[in-house]
Amino acid sequence: MAEQTSDPSNHSVSLSRSREKAGGEADTVTLLEAGLIVDGSGGPGWMGDVLLVGDRILALGEGLRHRLPDGIAPEALHVVDCRAKVVSPGFIDVHTHDDAIVLRDPLCLPKVSQGITTVVTGNCGISLAPYRTPEALPPLTLLGADSFRHATMADYRAAVEAAQPALNVAALVGHTTLRFATMDALDRAATDDERARMAALLDACMAEGAHGLSSGLFYEQAFAAPADEVTALARVVARHGGVYATHLRSEMESIIEAMHEAGDTAFTAGAPLVISHHKCAGPANWGRTKQTLPLVDTLAERQEIALDVYPYVAGSTVLREDLIDGVIDVLITWSDPHPGTTGRMLADIAREWGVDQREACRRLQPGGACYFQMQEEDVERVIAHPRTMIGSDGLPHDRHPHPRLWGAFPRVFARYWRDRQLFTLEQAVHKMTGMTARNMRIADRGLLRAGAMADVVVFDPRTVADTATYDRPKSASVGIERVYVNGVCAYLGGEQEPAVRARAGRMLHRGG
Ligand code: ZN
Ligand code: CU
Repeated sequence: MAEQTSDPSNHSVSLSRSREKAGGEADTVTLLEAGLIVDGSGGPGWMGDVLLVGDRILALGEGLRHRLPDGIAPEALHVVDCRAKVVSPGFIDVHTHDDAIVLRDPLCLPKVSQGITTVVTGNCGISLAPYRTPEALPPLTLLGADSFRHATMADYRAAVEAAQPALNVAALVGHTTLRFATMDALDRAATDDERARMAALLDACMAEGAHGLSSGLFYEQAFAAPADEVTALARVVARHGGVYATHLRSEMESIIEAMHEAGDTAFTAGAPLVISHHKCAGPANWGRTKQTLPLVDTLAERQEIALDVYPYVAGSTVLREDLIDGVIDVLITWSDPHPGTTGRMLADIAREWGVDQREACRRLQPGGACYFQMQEEDVERVIAHPRTMIGSDGLPHDRHPHPRLWGAFPRVFARYWRDRQLFTLEQAVHKMTGMTARNMRIADRGLLRAGAMADVVVFDPRTVADTATYDRPKSASVGIERVYVNGVCAYLGGEQEPAVRARAGRMLHRGG
């Protein structure tokens, strides 16, 4: 069930609640005037106004200033001139590893400064809840080794609410996390008893409002899980109306088999499928999106299926020898034993040490890297596909993170809409908002509609762009002018020092 209702009689209630929260700040009645309204549905934009009252969108239309709804005094209005700007729903980052960072650094500047108002956490099989351990092992370390303190989704929800992040959080439950929580060895399939305990934990998380299950069968801690172990869990999710998102068992040679496995798992369970960060990795597989995307279309004839993508040719994860082929470029993003190598190329480090790249990789572990493993044409084909949503897959704990953490969303506008014209502005926004809300069962967000939650971004379509690069990855985007989260202005672009000015995010509850 949605936590909110679109009954207009509730508006005065939400107004007073928001005012309390924002400490009487005048921004709680905001008129975004004369912008190009791109409502997130994919339909054509139109010139008009959006009125935000409390935490909701009260009305959309032309000349709203002259026909304010009852109970809104003209002097209470905070009018924002949006001429030559786009007004759209706040962006939903469908693929994140932000589970712990929303607690540790609730300002979430890398995300809010891109116009992101909701993050979907728990991807790639790795979620913070439900698991407690003083020192987590890889690949859970992606979220910080000391972050795992939440034995239940209810406990994680309480922690998010206490931290009050600047953006909303929608949580997936990771299969790998469930394995850690129930198994003593992960190089094998789960026993019947372990499966039952995983299912019970997942069931409780879903009852607490989680949006679905994720898996990361590519990672060795889940690779030994046979498809039917995952199918049994996807059934639990389907019963609650949630989704199944997967980092496929292979994104290289065996990608077609891995996609069939994912398709069958979701289809058998009766859950909608999301294929995470779709790519054909490794030079031997370049060009194969010509096979994978038609397969998505074929699967779509029998089941609900979607994809997500980040707009870059480099992937990023922990340092893994099997991803190093001596051909592709590899950039070190962190290394515990050799922190001085952060931000340098593996080939240079190997040459300096007089060893081959795999040996250098072994010496740098544990660590992380960006792998330049994709071809631009494949990336473009995936982004342009009508079932593809945008997700950053940013890694907020990395010392020298992949630039997608700060730049993914504006880069889609700058590079793939404005420069390459792969799609219309409306389609670009749809891939970040309405499509995502629908696929991930996020209620009352992702569309500009009267009664919807007031997550809104105002941006300049001529200038919006990423500035984060592989050399300088921690750099705020330009052209994102205003970001509203639950009706509160969280971010103003164009300031000397980009900063988040309010934290009004919420832990979301799965909706219809
Ligand atoms: Zn992944
Ligand atoms: Cu991921």
